[in-house]
Amino acid sequence: MKDLRIAVVPGDGIGVEVIREACAAIEAVAAASGKRITLTPFDWSADAYLKTGVSLPADGLKMLAENFDAILLGAMGDPRVPDNRHAADILLGMRFGLDLYVNHRPVKLLDARLCPLKGVEPKDVDFVVFRENTEGLYVMMGGNFKKGTPDEVATDIDLNTRKGVERIIRHAFEYARATGRKKVLMSDKSNVLIHAHDLWQRVFKEVKAGFPEITASHMYVDNLSLQLVRDPRQFEVIVTSNMFGDIVTDIAAGLQGGLGMAASGNIHPGKISLFEPVHGSSPPIAGKNIANPIGAIATAALMLAHLGWKEEAARIDAAVLEAVRAGQTTVDIGGTLGTREAAAAIVERLKPRS
Ligand code: IPM
Ligand code: MG
Repeated sequence: MKDLRIAVVPGDGIGVEVIREACAAIEAVAAASGKRITLTPFDWSADAYLKTGVSLPADGLKMLAENFDAILLGAMGDPRVPDNRHAADILLGMRFGLDLYVNHRPVKLLDARLCPLKGVEPKDVDFVVFRENTEGLYVMMGGNFKKGTPDEVATDIDLNTRKGVERIIRHAFEYARATGRKKVLMSDKSNVLIHAHDLWQRVFKEVKAGFPEITASHMYVDNLSLQLVRDPRQFEVIVTSNMFGDIVTDIAAGLQGGLGMAASGNIHPGKISLFEPVHGSSPPIAGKNIANPIGAIATAALMLAHLGWKEEAARIDAAVLEAVRAGQTTVDIGGTLGTREAAAAIVERLKPRS
């Protein structure tokens, strides 16, 4: 198998700290299996933006697509850039510019004690959210009229294309089929968004006909938000729009023990893809060795699995699970360790046993 080439963008805040540990986990698992992977850092961050005025370099996307198999990103966001312009340019720039239309967010509870719900076991929280990632309310189309006056009008357009809606719904069904999952649930707000989400309804109906072995169902997104915390056992695969997926995956992260636990991939099947923990840069705890490295390490595993290193990914997941069960974690999920020490507890388990 060919060597893997990963572009690493630690970004801002705790992104830097957790990506350092995700890289250590990747290097440990590669060394143990005798495979080669190169990790090439890129300083695309608030620091770089403030120094140079450049957020995402002009040739950045082309350079990534030509030279790398995947991108591992930490987090973007810094209080010194009040509108977080650089974050939008870099993260949304990659999502849109590389057409990463699948936002794949696995939701898996590792230990009952991490879930805020009563009586919920790891087997009860095990589903995947597919969030449309290239359109919807994220396209930044819209504008202001009479800005700054009492008569101001402001709009943001919810843009939905047949192509965009179809490819994410199809991906959800194909994923269910490929992984033996039996249920796909589509969530929208078609009772109110009678144009855009009617398109989701029609496309869902059409696509599901090609997957007769899979039970297809629907929930309005407000009800989905309730059902996720009422009984997460109901879900196997959820597919939804960009903005609803953003919100629902924060709720889902809560079921897993918080944002520090959640992994994600921004994927265009067959092309370069971007992997990032769901959490943000968390300025208040940055640089303090407090941040939970598990979201980033689980993201590294998701990336390796996507690139065909299935065994290595499984080894990382197993090491994370062992460390969590042993209570060797950061404070946010009940441990006493710092970022580095919690990551070391995982990385140690990845080294060859002599
Ligand atoms: C996420 C984040 C981003 C989003 C922000 C940082 C733009 O919340 O990846 O979930 O809204 O997609
Ligand atoms: Mg979000």
